[in-house]
Amino acid sequence: MKFLRMSDVDLKGKRVFIRADLNVPQNDVGVIMDDTRIKASIPAIEYALSQGAAVMVTSHLGRPVEGELNAEETLGPIALRIADLLGRKVSLISNWVENSVKVNPGEVVLLENCRINIGEKKNDDGLAKKMAALCDVYVNDAFGTAHRAEATTYGLAQYAPIACAGPLMAAELDALTHAFQSPKRPLVAIVAGSKVSTKLTILKSLAEKVDQLIVGGGIANTFMLAKGLPIGKSLAEPDLLDEAREIMEIMARRGAEVPIPTDVIVANEFSSHARANKVMAEEVQSDDMILDIGPRTAAKLAMIISNAGTIVWNGPVGVFEIEQFGGGTKMLAAAIAHSPAFTVGGGGDTLAAISKYQIANQIDYISTGGGAFLEFLEGKTLPAVDILVKRATQ
Ligand code: 3PG
Repeated sequence: MKFLRMSDVDLKGKRVFIRADLNVPQNDVGVIMDDTRIKASIPAIEYALSQGAAVMVTSHLGRPVEGELNAEETLGPIALRIADLLGRKVSLISNWVENSVKVNPGEVVLLENCRINIGEKKNDDGLAKKMAALCDVYVNDAFGTAHRAEATTYGLAQYAPIACAGPLMAAELDALTHAFQSPKRPLVAIVAGSKVSTKLTILKSLAEKVDQLIVGGGIANTFMLAKGLPIGKSLAEPDLLDEAREIMEIMARRGAEVPIPTDVIVANEFSSHARANKVMAEEVQSDDMILDIGPRTAAKLAMIISNAGTIVWNGPVGVFEIEQFGGGTKMLAAAIAHSPAFTVGGGGDTLAAISKYQIANQIDYISTGGGAFLEFLEGKTLPAVDILVKRATQ
């Protein structure tokens, strides 16, 4: 995948427009709950400043109605956090499309939530051209939004004099490409979540590539059901049993495997007060809910992980937020942390598990992408990346 990188471009004295993904969770009073994406966006800004550029940065925050700026969707708190991290003043500019943005070389300004602009989400050509006129160089550093073709992620890249990838975008693409193109084998993917239906295309796409496909959560329950195992009143999608069987068949034809749990942790209610029982997979009762994998299954998965060459992790294998159902995910996390494999993790719940079990330093690459990470796993072309690649070959 060939695209121009920010480090390949002469930025001295240039007006540089950085599209970052600063879409971070905040509480009711605007306190940032997790600033990972803000921190990950700092190197691009610092690099542009160090090169003597006049720097404009924008991002979306939430999904506002275009033309309306509500208090919870302003980038105000984010401007303060960036100023803190950079140790310099960062002004927040409103109505920046129509008014020419005043910023001098060596300065940085934050442009208010780009999704407020009418035409952003539909990638309006007129809006993209106006934004392109604001800069000499466009930098897309927003991997988390790369699956969206919006005016700041696509049209702007089309019309800016120069369009390149920022260091975060480049690092994400390098890591994910490394994991999937000529990966060190065995390639193991862990895909967990409540529904097969929401991850069906990912599962099918991975079934063609990986050596072991570890499934977890409601997805694993559906696979257990497809294997004829009892799952009691566990979350599952009985109408997708054929799809689950097809995935197992595709894998088996390639000599690959979907390891199905042989023991599980069950309870008869989904609550932090529930009593957790360890049972063999064949012994799940009609009023049981499967809320984690059992120790034998966890040990088998840990063995698979310890022998892997590459691991891609998306999703916990149990309800790890509740202590008594976190054993499987904890063991999996420890196995991933200690594995000599090249390891990549991504997705909201996965990041929460990585943080809970404090293994961030032992994962080779942690993606800042949620939907974008999943679409990459699906094998889809990310539009914001596609346009950078097109611009590089023009
Ligand atoms: C995300 O949080 O996954 C990205 O910022 C994209 O946000 P969106 O789903 O609102 O486009």
